[in-house]
Amino acid sequence: MSKIEFEKPGNFLYPLPAVMVSCHDGKGNNNIITIAWTGTVCSDPPMVYISVRKERHSYPMLKETGEFVINLISEDLTYAMDKAGCTTGKKIDKFKELGLTPAKSFKVDAPSISEAPVCIECKVTEVKELGTHDMFLAEVVSVSVDEKYLDEKGVFHMDQCKLVAYEHGAYRKMSDTIGTFGYSVRKK
Ligand SMILES: Cc1cc2nc3c(=O)[nH]c(=O)nc-3n(C[C@H](O)[C@H](O)[C@H](O)COP(=O)(O)O)c2cc1C
Repeated sequence: MSKIEFEKPGNFLYPLPAVMVSCHDGKGNNNIITIAWTGTVCSDPPMVYISVRKERHSYPMLKETGEFVINLISEDLTYAMDKAGCTTGKKIDKFKELGLTPAKSFKVDAPSISEAPVCIECKVTEVKELGTHDMFLAEVVSVSVDEKYLDEKGVFHMDQCKLVAYEHGAYRKMSDTIGTFGYSVRKK
């Protein structure tokens, strides 16, 4: 295969999740920011990062409280996720405007989004200045899921959440399973 190199290197690691990160200022004000620059960085302890520009309304909230919740996006939350990423908490109450419900989290004071299928509560361990964005490295302190995705044995079925992938500006459905972890080496 012959490849053509782009003139400038850029961000091309796709697909990835676009998530709604909920946060608060510790004085009773909540906010939601959409984040695509996020990922897992360690299994044990479970750790994630989110990268946030300093000018975001959410930035000082994250910096001062040192906590946030990553709310995964199902197909029916995609519109709200996009809107949370195109409006600022400087001007509107996003929970109200987007019809979302702040729920009490288990281990942090930042609210979770009640309508999200999966909520990942995080405590910041380090903030690293990188350039356009600062990376908030964080430990996952609690994970909760909507009980409607648990079967009678208590097994969680993530495929039923209808999660959405973000790919170079587009939000995409993830419908078909091609394989499962280890299928390439599993004995038939
Ligand atoms: C799909 C999508 C992904 C985004 N990813 C990021 C990101 O990773 N980091 C960031 O700082 N802003 C990101 N943004 C932009 C913010 O969500 C946006 O500026 C938002 O208005 C900030 O809200 P706030 O001012 O209330 O904090 C993204 C927006 C969208 C729509």
